[in-house]
Amino acid sequence: MTKLPHLHPVALYHNPMADRQAPYGAAQRRVLNLEAHDAARREIAAWPGYAPTPLVALPGLAAAAGIGRLWFKDEGGRFGLGSFKALGGAYAVFRLLAAEVARRTGGPAPSAADLLSGKHRDVVSSITVTCATDGNHGRSVAWGAQTFSCGCVIYIHATVSDGRRDAIAAFGATVVRTAGNYDDAVRQAGADAAANGWMVVSDTSYEGYMDVPRDVMQGYTVMVQEAVEQLPPGERPTHVFIQAGVGGLAAAVCGHLWERWGADRPRVVVVEPDKAACLFESARAGRPMAVHGDLDTIMAGLACGEVSLLAWTILAPGADDFQTITDEAAKDAMRLLAAGTGGDRPLVAGESAVAGLAGLLCALGNGQAEALGLGPDSRVLLFGSEGDTDPDLYAAIVGRSAEQVRAA
Ligand SMILES: Cc1ncc(COP(=O)(O)O)c(C=O)c1O
Repeated sequence: MTKLPHLHPVALYHNPMADRQAPYGAAQRRVLNLEAHDAARREIAAWPGYAPTPLVALPGLAAAAGIGRLWFKDEGGRFGLGSFKALGGAYAVFRLLAAEVARRTGGPAPSAADLLSGKHRDVVSSITVTCATDGNHGRSVAWGAQTFSCGCVIYIHATVSDGRRDAIAAFGATVVRTAGNYDDAVRQAGADAAANGWMVVSDTSYEGYMDVPRDVMQGYTVMVQEAVEQLPPGERPTHVFIQAGVGGLAAAVCGHLWERWGADRPRVVVVEPDKAACLFESARAGRPMAVHGDLDTIMAGLACGEVSLLAWTILAPGADDFQTITDEAAKDAMRLLAAGTGGDRPLVAGESAVAGLAGLLCALGNGQAEALGLGPDSRVLLFGSEGDTDPDLYAAIVGRSAEQVRAA
C-alpha cells in the first residue's frame, strides 16, 4: 500500500456554534442565495471560454487513505487563469460596471454581451477598478477589467512572487508592490481608491463594504454547483475539506451546499495554514479575530489575517470544524497528487489548492478520524482551487514542471 505523507502536526477545533439542523437562514441568504447563484451562473456560463472544470475521482488515493471515495474539483484550467478565483473577481467587475453604466445613463443595466460589443465604451473606459491581492484574485480582476475594457490598478504585498506579479501585469493592469502583508495592501488599495475615485473590487468584506465581495463569493458558487452536478448519480459527499484565506471560498462551498441540501449537507472542515489561521482563531473566540505578523506561508492564497465578515456569517453557524496545517504538509500533498496513487491520474495542484487534501490526510494520520466521523464509508469532496499559478515555485516544490507531471 502507498505510504501517505501525513504525519505532520494538525490542530483541530470542533465548532460549538455549528448547528446541522438549523435551516439556511435569512442572515445567510442575504449573503448567498440560489436565485443570485442562478443569475451568476447564467452570466458566467455565457462568457467566452467558459467550461466546467473536471471533478476527478481518486479511487487509488481514497483506498490508500482508508476512505470510500475521494473527489477533487480541479480548478487549474479555469478560464485559462489557473484558479477558481477567475469566477469571483471578474464577475464582480462585470456587476460593478453594469451598475455604474445604469447609474450614469439612467437606462437598464447592460449585459456582458453589450459591454463586450463596446456599447458603453465611453462610460466603461472612464472607470478604474482596483484591489489588493496575493495573486489569484488580482489576476481575475485584471482579466475582468481587460475583458470589459476598464482601467485596473492591482496592489500586491511584499512577499507575492514576481511570477504572480507578472501574470497580473500580463492582463494590462498597473501593478503596485506595497510594504507589509496582505491586510496592509488592502488598506493601501482602499486609501488610493478613495483619493483617485477608483472602484475597489475586494474579495474580502468589512463593515460598510459588502456588495462587491458578495458578488465575488456568488461567482464562486458556480464552481460548487458544477461539482454537485458532476458527482456520480445518487452519491453525495459526507465531508468537504475546504481551504480558507479570508473565508470567501469556504463560505461559498458551505453556504451553497447548506441551502441546497439542508441537514444532509456534508460535514464542512475549514483548513488554514498554521501561520495564518484567522478563521480557526475566530471559531475558538466565537467572534471574528485577526491574526497579525507577516503570515509567512507558502500557501500564498491563504495568507490572510482577517476574516471576511460575509464569510463569517455563513461559516460561524455552518462550518463543523476548523483545522490548521503546516507548509510541509501542503508540499507533501502537492507531490502526492503529482505522483498519482494506486493508478490515479497525476494532478497539478498549487500550494493553496492542496490544503484541503493535506488537512484530510493529516487528520487521518494523527488519529483524528473518529473526531471527524471519517471511516471506510466516507466520501470526501475537495476543491483543488489552483493549478501551478506560480510555475517556478511549483517546480521547486514538486521537482518537476506542471507539463512534466501532466505528461507522466
Ligand atoms: C488558490 C486559492 N485557494 C483558496 C483561496 C482562499 O479563498 P478565500 O480568501 O476566499 O478564503 C485563495 C485566495 O486567494 C486562493 O488563491
